[in-house]
Amino acid sequence: MGEVSPLLFLLTIMIQDTFEDDSGDSPVLCKTVAEVRERINERIKRGVTIGFVPTMGALHDGHLSLVEIAKKRADVVVVSIFVNPTQFAPDEDYESYPRQLEKDLEACRKAGVDIVFAPDKDQLYDSTEYFSIEIDSLNDHMCGGSRPGFFEGVVLVVNKLFNIVEPDVAVFGQKDIQQVEIIRRMVQEFHHHVEIVSGPIMRANDGLALSSRNQYLDKKERVAAPGLYRSLQYIESQIASGVHTPKLLIQHQWSELEAKGFKIDYINVFDKHTLKPVETLHQGSSYIIAGAAYLGNTRLIDNILIEF
Ligand code: PAJ
Repeated sequence: MGEVSPLLFLLTIMIQDTFEDDSGDSPVLCKTVAEVRERINERIKRGVTIGFVPTMGALHDGHLSLVEIAKKRADVVVVSIFVNPTQFAPDEDYESYPRQLEKDLEACRKAGVDIVFAPDKDQLYDSTEYFSIEIDSLNDHMCGGSRPGFFEGVVLVVNKLFNIVEPDVAVFGQKDIQQVEIIRRMVQEFHHHVEIVSGPIMRANDGLALSSRNQYLDKKERVAAPGLYRSLQYIESQIASGVHTPKLLIQHQWSELEAKGFKIDYINVFDKHTLKPVETLHQGSSYIIAGAAYLGNTRLIDNILIEF
């Protein structure tokens, strides 16, 4: 066979890629680090930018809203689907966490995701790991306070994922606001070359924040579940109408929620920058009204961001 002309070669590659990625067909599924690196590098060579949405799968409209944001900010969107063992405590739901790759791939196809990275555990974790990342005071309260080791597991896996995917932009949900703030700080301190973007909380019609764990709720719990958001909204409205020391207000909402069957982990107002609880709110600062509570065995979290 004679030599293939460079132009023909380039055309063949372009046509192949068109069929692979841009035709609305399934995203490229990568199961290994080597594969995803190769696929991403092929695209980076063409000068495109990479947007990244890390997830643990069981995708819902909240996750897909982040994909939409990533698509607006980058040429190629990579979604990772990995139930990260290091962010689950031994008594948590690692084994039973919903895994539904086929369904997730279909959701990614419809959303126009280019690459799905769904590695097995041994792709990201060696059997012996010598390093971990400690988090200082940002981890003392909210979910960090009540789930020891959780954010260490999150930053560990997000570090690995950032090193593998090397995205230009990574999108996280405000639903897990402490996660976004910790990752922002991690990126700054570790000099990751990525812009962190936070997407708004997607909710069901009755106000319940969408979550992969909502599928654990039985019918009665599902009806009660939006109560958490309503309590946070009530606190927000009282602050807006002049209550600047929210302690009593919070105690009252706490009892109301308990009466509705919630077992409260925390409800409080936190400073957005230090992530510490605040007694008195001051003009010109940003706060998070946040709560976590159990209905049966299901842990729900929610928050409202206020610029005061
Ligand atoms: P996961 O719970 O699957 O969430 C993936 C991303 O979706 C997170 O950034 C989360 O904040 C966002 N998200 C969840 N519910 C949302 C909603 N209702 N509206 C908007 N965004 C929502 O968060 C994780 O996975 C993991 O900790 C991970 C970052 C992937 C590390 O393992």
